[in-house]
Amino acid sequence: MTRLHIQVIHGPNLNMLGTREPGHYGNQTLADIDESLIKLGDKLNVRITSFQSNHEGEIVDKIQHLDADALIINPAAYTHTSVAIRDALLAVKIPFVEVHLSNIYKRETFRHQSMMVDMAMGVIAGFGAQSYLLALRGLHHHFLANQ
Ligand code: DQA
Repeated sequence: MTRLHIQVIHGPNLNMLGTREPGHYGNQTLADIDESLIKLGDKLNVRITSFQSNHEGEIVDKIQHLDADALIINPAAYTHTSVAIRDALLAVKIPFVEVHLSNIYKRETFRHQSMMVDMAMGVIAGFGAQSYLLALRGLHHHFLANQ
């Protein structure tokens, strides 16, 4: 099998992980999360590239120009609001997993809605940084099973 390429996109305020509301989001920094994804990717023969932005338009641009086989995306606050990110995902039709560190369904009701979840291959929420690693394992398994 050729090396799978998975793009990871982290939405707004996720650059502040480590100090931001650790009760919800844990103590790991974004760099820690990316490092653990790259490490697991190496084990699974998956190339990981990562992108973070606080700006909706930059995330839309990134999605429009993806050259990956699949996407792991934590749209953060844009999960609940962004028609633009939804439309970009619809336009490029890339298989993706929606990820959240916290269990959004245990929190405020405005977080219970996701603009993209009906298009996702799967959703993982509530396992902290492990949510990303579970998404990587899920996508890897999916591509292995369907090669
Ligand atoms: C989040 C949940 C969102 O509701 C919130 O706006 C975030 C992070 C999570 O990973 O748990 O910024 O996506």
